[in-house]
Amino acid sequence: MEAEKIWMDGKLVNWNDAKVHVLTHALHYGSGVFEGIRAYKTEQGTAVFRLKDHVDRLFNSAKILRMDIPYTKEEITKAIKETIKVNKLDSCYIRPLVYRGFKKLGLNPFTCPVQVMIAAWEWGAYLGEEALAKGIKAIISSWQRSHINSTSAKAKICGNYINSIFANMEAVESGVEEAILLDSNGYVAEGPGENIFWVKDGIVFTPPLTSVLEGITRKTVIKIASDMNFKIKEEFIARDVLYLADEAFFAGSAAELTPIREIDHHSIGSGSRGPVSKQLQEKLFNVFKGKEKQYNAWLDFVT
Ligand SMILES: Cc1ncc(COP(=O)(O)O)c(C=O)c1O
Repeated sequence: MEAEKIWMDGKLVNWNDAKVHVLTHALHYGSGVFEGIRAYKTEQGTAVFRLKDHVDRLFNSAKILRMDIPYTKEEITKAIKETIKVNKLDSCYIRPLVYRGFKKLGLNPFTCPVQVMIAAWEWGAYLGEEALAKGIKAIISSWQRSHINSTSAKAKICGNYINSIFANMEAVESGVEEAILLDSNGYVAEGPGENIFWVKDGIVFTPPLTSVLEGITRKTVIKIASDMNFKIKEEFIARDVLYLADEAFFAGSAAELTPIREIDHHSIGSGSRGPVSKQLQEKLFNVFKGKEKQYNAWLDFVT
């Protein structure tokens, strides 16, 4: 994982020189917001998937955390494309971060400057190539998603991810690839960095947005699944509904569409990637790669 340049506060700096002061506010308190975006190689060149939606969400996250980004959306969009281009990447993961820098340490963030960095690098399947084809094992985490009055689920705030890291560590140390978090009412919420879907009797389900991130992949899956004539429902469910589902999968920019074949030692459906997951996954990858012309408005070409 390395590329040549990182965009930092308006300048492209060498990868190894992209440094911050150790008293950076965000380093101590998690006072930053970020995005995770992918660009894919298509026949017409490299295309960033749903870039506008990601930039909009970055600005919304910053608004919730009371940070005025010192650049316009157009400037951030341009900088993202420039970072991909300068690193000569044709398929990559992009990580913009807006964070409180260093001026004066203490909880009050308002004295610290708002800084921006954008990195991009080549990154394959988040949970491994085999995961995409065969599915992964997951556990229900003993950590629950933060209560809606503890933090904002709408914002991709750096500090929120400690909750995700607890869940991920528990999964890894339990010998499975990923965790599933319940919300503070005990209903299924999402993965540490992915939304969750399940399929029962041909209907595609996902939890409502109350305590989960409004995923751009979630939105995409809902749109393409409904265009493929699947019925979609948002439901609060207990974990046992997942155990009895015909299929389950994670959806996210990093995880793309990763089937879940086992949860808490229960085989899900046939115990491998199910037919609906496969159909949606194939469609989604074709959309990413510009092979489904009707969705090409979601592709932002790096020219
Ligand atoms: C907690 C959480 N849920 C869901 C997602 C999926 O969102 P998206 O599809 O926009 O990447 C992410 C990743 O950004 C996430 O961090």
